Amino acid sequence: MEPVNVAVIYYSATGRVHALARAVAEGAEKAGANVRLRKVAESAPPEAVGSSPEWAAHVRETADMPEAGHDDLLWADAVLFGTPTRFGNPASQLRAFIETTGPLWFHGKLADKVYSAFTAANTAHGGHESTILALGNTFYHWGGVIVPPGYTDPVQFETGNPYGTSHVAGDGMPSETTLQAARHQARRVVDMTARLKAGRAA
Ligand SMILES: Cc1cc2nc3c(=O)[nH]c(=O)nc-3n(C[C@H](O)[C@H](O)[C@H](O)COP(=O)(O)O)c2cc1C
Repeated sequence: MEPVNVAVIYYSATGRVHALARAVAEGAEKAGANVRLRKVAESAPPEAVGSSPEWAAHVRETADMPEAGHDDLLWADAVLFGTPTRFGNPASQLRAFIETTGPLWFHGKLADKVYSAFTAANTAHGGHESTILALGNTFYHWGGVIVPPGYTDPVQFETGNPYGTSHVAGDGMPSETTLQAARHQARRVVDMTARLKAGRAA
């Protein structure tokens, strides 16, 4: 069977979600998938970006990261979306990308794919689950198959988010344990997508 195609599409202002996205991409690659790691376009004005040294540095450091496009969604068998929380919701930069997908949705091109999500929020109760669940609303509309990590690996009992990998951004960059959870989530997505793909081919 052809390998599973996985797109990892994320927004990150100060690098935490970017670190999770890289771990997700690694996990998917190790599980045998073809992987495209893509950021969405920054829409904040340069003055806003420049007002935060951490944000400005991250934009510079990821200048070479390719931007997500519709072709990545069409190519993918599975898509993992990553976003920081913004008042308990996905960041507008990721929403803006998602809201360009109307024509793909209308023609049924986003249905039957596997979707999963990961996030970061400054505090432990700052909106991790609500952000992931808000992305889930879109996956329902697309007719996607949502694959969450659940408690399917011992690392999930350490990091404790069955909805999707999440990181307390106020603690700094993600710990190795959180990155392991991100890799596990990706492996599980690849595994479940491969089963779906094999079932369709049979
Ligand atoms: C406008 C705005 C709203 C935010 N809302 C929340 C929030 O509701 N809860 C929270 O814990 N953190 C909140 N944060 C903090 C971000 O989620 C945090 O900076 C982010 O997860 C860091 O990820 P990044 O390094 O990938 O950008 C907010 C940040 C901004 C700029």
